[in-house]
Amino acid sequence: MELQDYKALFLQHLREKVQVREPEHLYRPVTYILNLGGKRIRPLLTLLSSVAFGGDYRKALDAALAVEIFHNFTLLHDDIMDKAPVRRGMQTVHEKWNVNTGILSGDVMLINAYQFLESYEPEIFKELSRLFSRTAQEVCEGQQYDMDFEKRHDVKLDEYVEMIRLKTSVLLAAALEMGAIIAKASPEDRKQIYNFGIQMGLAFQLQDDYLDTFGDPETFGKKIGGDILEQKKTWLYIKALSVANPLDKERLSVLYHAPTEDENVKIERVRDFFKDYQVDTLIQEEIHAYSLRATAILERLSLEASAKKILLNLVQSLEKRQV
Ligand code: IPE
Ligand code: IPE
Ligand code: MG
Ligand code: MG
Ligand code: MG
Repeated sequence: MELQDYKALFLQHLREKVQVREPEHLYRPVTYILNLGGKRIRPLLTLLSSVAFGGDYRKALDAALAVEIFHNFTLLHDDIMDKAPVRRGMQTVHEKWNVNTGILSGDVMLINAYQFLESYEPEIFKELSRLFSRTAQEVCEGQQYDMDFEKRHDVKLDEYVEMIRLKTSVLLAAALEMGAIIAKASPEDRKQIYNFGIQMGLAFQLQDDYLDTFGDPETFGKKIGGDILEQKKTWLYIKALSVANPLDKERLSVLYHAPTEDENVKIERVRDFFKDYQVDTLIQEEIHAYSLRATAILERLSLEASAKKILLNLVQSLEKRQV
């Protein structure tokens, strides 16, 4: 099977298991966000990892669904926190409905995500649930750092990397480890596939930062420049500050934190700073470095050949993604 086949099978499972019921104002936004599309990277990682460790992808479908529902829950709340108007090319839930809907429909998704783990036998359930809870807590920690950093002017690159490890990487890593748990992989294999996910996740979030500033609004599906307007301490911003001359450093910092009359002018000016110091190219090199680390970890593992190949291709294609 190819990646597209796994995706189709996952989507079929999603459609079967997630349906609108009463009260409609609670569940309609759930199906809305889940059917808006998205790359489905995390559930695919769960399915592929289970096959890679000799398991049957069908046994991993419920865990894959739990991971995707959890991810979409984080997006509902994240879009409120980031004041984001667009997601996957459509209105965000809090824009289409309201903030309260975004909060409560998000809450019920978090609960539903856990319920999809209930179909596993006790030992597996325990392992999955333990990993899932730890991961969910870490995502909250990462989100809090992300918010705290908006207000700080002195965020260092290593703090940034730790923040994105928490808000993004651990979920990709856990998605992979869950597949390994279901396939009853050894503790050492579980650890390695998790580490692979961490490296891939760091590359993934760096690319997300890059696209938020330099992506094509048509394909990216989110408002370009959103991170700049929210004064996010992205890799681009932190790196630009660290390589700029003292005068530009001051200018960029003032521009970035000042309220703006014209959003587009501000975005354009910040982008110009980034380009002047070539941080748009530097970030691509950084992404490549993390992808190579991910690839090296995966290469060392002895895995079912076809799933391994799909995972390796996935790392490469994510590096070049525009979506
Ligand atoms: C968005 O995740 C949130 C980040 C961690 C960057 P994705 O880029 O996987 O979003 P979808 O699910 O494909 O829309
Ligand atoms: C992603 O952070 C982390 C989570 C959603 C937990 P972002 O805020 O960068 O994600 P997008 O860009 O809105 O998808
Ligand atoms: Mg966001
Ligand atoms: Mg965010
Ligand atoms: Mg982003």
